[in-house]
Amino acid sequence: MDTTHSTRSLSANLFFLFLLLSSNLLTFFLSSFSSCYFNPSTTTTSTTLSFDDYSASHLPPEFLAVTSPQLLPLGYSVNFDSDTIHPPVGHPCTLFANDLNRYMSYSVNGSCPDDELLAQKLLLKGCEPLPRRRCRPVVSPDYVEPFPLPLSLWSTPSDTSAVWTAYSCKNYSCLVNRKRNKAFDDCKDCFDLEGREKTRWKSGGGLDFSIDEVFATKRPGTLRIGLDIGGGSGTFAVRMKERNITIVTTSMNFNGPFNNFIASRGVIPLYVSISQRLPFFDNTLDIVHSMHVLSNWIPTKLLHFLLFDIYRVLRPGGLFWLDHFFCVEMQLEVYVPLLESIGFEKVKWAVGRKLDRGPELGEMYISALLQKPLKQSF
Ligand SMILES: *[C@@H]1O[C@H](CO)[C@@H](O)[C@H](O)[C@H]1NC(C)=O
Ligand SMILES: *[C@@H]1O[C@H](CO)[C@@H](O)[C@H](O)[C@H]1NC(C)=O
Ligand SMILES: *[C@@H]1O[C@H](CO)[C@@H](O)[C@H](O)[C@H]1NC(C)=O
Repeated sequence: MDTTHSTRSLSANLFFLFLLLSSNLLTFFLSSFSSCYFNPSTTTTSTTLSFDDYSASHLPPEFLAVTSPQLLPLGYSVNFDSDTIHPPVGHPCTLFANDLNRYMSYSVNGSCPDDELLAQKLLLKGCEPLPRRRCRPVVSPDYVEPFPLPLSLWSTPSDTSAVWTAYSCKNYSCLVNRKRNKAFDDCKDCFDLEGREKTRWKSGGGLDFSIDEVFATKRPGTLRIGLDIGGGSGTFAVRMKERNITIVTTSMNFNGPFNNFIASRGVIPLYVSISQRLPFFDNTLDIVHSMHVLSNWIPTKLLHFLLFDIYRVLRPGGLFWLDHFFCVEMQLEVYVPLLESIGFEKVKWAVGRKLDRGPELGEMYISALLQKPLKQSF
């Protein structure tokens, strides 16, 4: 809680700011006041966001505007246990001063810069959530409304449903055809709805579990809502929608408009990285699925937190379908115990070789169907 003194000085500042709001001097004054706003003595909660290391006056005015403490107009709130909101951004944001400056430079109430790539890099480095901006995102001038359901589920959307500046491809036919190119891309053939997407999870065997066999492990109708982490072009969610199950798909836009594509199909994209706390309450989801994403590229400690977060959001009896986790053979002795330590029950478990880049690399896959116990034993 703020001390009486700091609250008073804060409200004095805010009142003055209020007077300035309609004036174009605002921007000028914001930078001079910023030192008051971020003086650690006025923020008594032990926040790790230290502005000491950065001169607040060098931070973009819009960043200071979006993050500055804001008094609740109706005063102290029991729910908040405070009279102030500190609007959040990822605490590493200020580590990337140059990117942050570019990202937060725009005219208020105007168009946002066409800077998706910059924004995503900033987010992936840890500035997540990204600061809100007071500008309107770029949109194609020829935007057309999506196909209606159920046609949209398996249709390639109009090229104008996305803005292509950030990607090497400039239309969907290029993305569909890129599976023939040599260049590496995440989810290279995911945009081709006539290709592999058509048959995913249809038949099981080895590391591939089919949706039918996963569903057979639960009482019919008890898998209703869930999450697909790093769900490519949204095909898992589409398959689930065909069964009247609601799946939210997290995705980044790695060299392609994954979020737009998922949304155009008529399922929900969620733009959060694997670093972000899952935006769901404890013990709520029936199923969490993730294919080819949770793997050895993720720092082990981050993965440990992430696995606990998945455990947290799953309801008791909920399923975690870890679909093709990959690592090299030597790392199995790290990852198997890690996966086994979270508290899930093993329903299905398969370990096999990953051969797509050649057997000499010794790459392995783990596929697992894990259940959060109905009764917690610890
Ligand atoms: C904000 O932008 C909108 C749309 O361009 C415009 O109609 C409005 O007048 C602007 N408001 C201010 C306060 O400039
Ligand atoms: C899509 O882009 C490719 C190259 O990026 C281009 O050759 C092709 O003409 C474009 N197709 C359409 C339909 O715009
Ligand atoms: C999904 O729900 C609709 C409407 O309630 C129903 O007609 C349809 O049979 C359901 N489909 C499945 C696969 O359960």
